[in-house]
Amino acid sequence: NQTLNYPTNEQGHLTIAGLDATALARQYGTPVVVYNIELVRERARKFKETFEKNNVKAQVAYASKAFSSIAIYEVMKEEGLSLDVVSAGELYTALHAKFPASKIHFHGNNKSMEELVMAFDAEIGCIVVDNFYEIELVKQLAEERKQEISILLRVTPGIEAHTHDYITTGQQDSKFGFDLNNGQADDAFEAVAHHPYVNLLGLHCHIGSQIFETQGFVAAAEKLLTKMQNWSESQNYSCTVLNLGGGFGIRYTEEDAPLAPEKYVEEMIKAISRLSSESAYQMPEIWIEPGRSLVGDAGTTLYTIGSQKTVPDVRHYIAVDGGMSDNIRPALYQARYDARVANRMNADATQLVTVAGKCCESGDKLIEDITLPEVEAGDILAIFSTGAYGYAMASNYNRLTRPAVVFVENGKARLVIKRESLEDLVRNDLSLYGEVEGQ
Ligand code: LLP
Repeated sequence: NQTLNYPTNEQGHLTIAGLDATALARQYGTPVVVYNIELVRERARKFKETFEKNNVKAQVAYASKAFSSIAIYEVMKEEGLSLDVVSAGELYTALHAKFPASKIHFHGNNKSMEELVMAFDAEIGCIVVDNFYEIELVKQLAEERKQEISILLRVTPGIEAHTHDYITTGQQDSKFGFDLNNGQADDAFEAVAHHPYVNLLGLHCHIGSQIFETQGFVAAAEKLLTKMQNWSESQNYSCTVLNLGGGFGIRYTEEDAPLAPEKYVEEMIKAISRLSSESAYQMPEIWIEPGRSLVGDAGTTLYTIGSQKTVPDVRHYIAVDGGMSDNIRPALYQARYDARVANRMNADATQLVTVAGKCCESGDKLIEDITLPEVEAGDILAIFSTGAYGYAMASNYNRLTRPAVVFVENGKARLVIKRESLEDLVRNDLSLYGEVEGQ
């Protein structure tokens, strides 16, 4: 399974945006997540250009749950993207990165009063309101502060997309949003439309993640647009924004065949302009929220190989110096990844191995069954497409320290998140024998 090609240099080493991955591993230590920022920028530009080429007003918001850090927010800001945040922590990081507040959209199914106050204080661009409780909190705050706030209503259209197909369910069982099909969305509309301070921009939905086809998005657009048309006719209220969320798939292994990111956008634009012109409804702005497709395959995690174990006639394990603590996806979703030995790119792949992590858990396997060259301790293993939901979902399980993160661009590498230190691990711990906090 060595069908995917990766760039190498004359030493037979893997390169990332032109730099020697083995040298990066030596310089920054391992595990380290290395991002090819040239690729991130290219993806961001493709999304934006596709809207511009078609003269469609749009916002491309980076769904920063995929990977949140000051430096990635700075990149997205430079590329003119908007930002989707889902917690006080992501909002705080974004504001710290001086991300323009007017381009920040706040998501989440249980935003606290403190989080909403933070959003109002920062005067962020939009709150994606998820439920009736939140409607009350937002109205209360807006009225008390006499402050205008723009919102979208998140709805569940009863469409769920998973990779290659989508399903339409009557009553979608989801913790997110207002049901579009049973009157909930209409009740939410009643509660916010024509409010003196709450400015309802339109509707939002997110139909899934790692999706490889466009029909689900088209079906969702149809449903949301129809609802907006209804409100326009029956309530004389024109929504101006249609947000179709994220979910565009990327390649993890040779089995994945994603569409080019712009393809999803083109199909959305086609469907929405057709539907709008058929009904003489003003073409809405289209907002999207890609996370994985902006940063996923731009990230590569470099590990150092340590121990090996053979279970005769069953399996050969090679162990690396990270694991489920820096990438929970294989254990949590049975996610598949591709890997190469970064310092032996030209060696023949001769042995079938399982790549194990170092956590005290049998399920801590990063890749089951991959063919690699013979390896020895000290070799560098590169696991590809770890840029989304890897570092973002990392933990200190077994008190492992979180890896360093390095950005590479224009032939230069730059440390953007320091490796956690052992001192970091005990920073918030209090001894039984010390002074008692708060007394
Ligand atoms: N917008 C909303 C409202 C979302 O809930 C999500 C992802 C996105 C945008 C971005 O989706 P993307 O373009 O990244 O697929 N931890 C899982 C993925 C969870 C996605 C949650 N929501 C994973 O590692 O596969």
